[in-house]
Amino acid sequence: MASADRVWYVNGAFVPADDAVIPVNDLAVQRGYGVFESLRTYGGRPFCFSEHLARLRRSAELVGIPLPWTEADLRMVVERTLRRNDFPESSVRILVTGGQSDGFFNPAGRPGLIVMVMPVRRNPQAYYEKGVKVTTTEMDRFLPEAKTIHYIPGMMAMQEARAVDPEVVEVLFVDRDGQVTEGITSNVFAFYGDNLVTPKEGILYGVTRQLVLDLAREHYAVQEGPLRRQAIYLADEIFITGSVKEVMPVRAVDGRAIGWGGPGERTRQLANLYTEMTTAFAQKSI
Ligand SMILES: Cc1ncc(COP(=O)(O)O)c(C=O)c1O
Repeated sequence: MASADRVWYVNGAFVPADDAVIPVNDLAVQRGYGVFESLRTYGGRPFCFSEHLARLRRSAELVGIPLPWTEADLRMVVERTLRRNDFPESSVRILVTGGQSDGFFNPAGRPGLIVMVMPVRRNPQAYYEKGVKVTTTEMDRFLPEAKTIHYIPGMMAMQEARAVDPEVVEVLFVDRDGQVTEGITSNVFAFYGDNLVTPKEGILYGVTRQLVLDLAREHYAVQEGPLRRQAIYLADEIFITGSVKEVMPVRAVDGRAIGWGGPGERTRQLANLYTEMTTAFAQKSI
């Protein structure tokens, strides 16, 4: 199996990835009760580690899972898992589950903790050179500020979108007021000339989103606020962000070309600035 060489941390033990299992009475299995983080390394070191751990804590708080670990505990577990694997660059998933339950509802003990590391799987280069296709779907996400394991609406939206066009890479959620919020696993930005707009409400506050906002503020007028679905079709440039996606240009929304139908120059500039930042981080660790 491809994952035979991987070692993961599961509830106190390091195990081969193929043997990584959790009890079937864990509330993550029974009730979808769990939160997680997904990040990656540059230069072998977790990028924005503190920000991801802070968001994990916030997600756990929002859904009422008490975290018995300090930030230092979690850092140590992740770092030890990374050392056991030794990939050039890794993507890291930290999953906190509701833990075991006798009656499948009330937590009986401590939450579960799982750390998985995998070699970073870069998206196809064509996504960045040509831009990707996305669609929209009407859906209000439950508790959007928490990064929970509940992605059923997103899974369904992607299946529906790909049944029509297998090239679709992301689906953007539109809330009941007609506002675009975010993608299934990304945040979304729109350029109108030199004005950059990104939704502020009803979203997961992406770590990449914040970094991109900080970079963009030095060059553009930035507005965190409403972005209507109709307005998105008229944008000069659209891009999506995520820890592994980084800055990914969008060339079409719902089959309508955005801008000239390929990555815009401002998006390219932000993508380059983002790469400069991650490269500088990688080099610092040598
Ligand atoms: C719903 C949602 N929004 C946004 C993001 C992007 O967040 P980040 O930039 O922290 O990876 C993700 C990441 O998976 C996500 O699941």
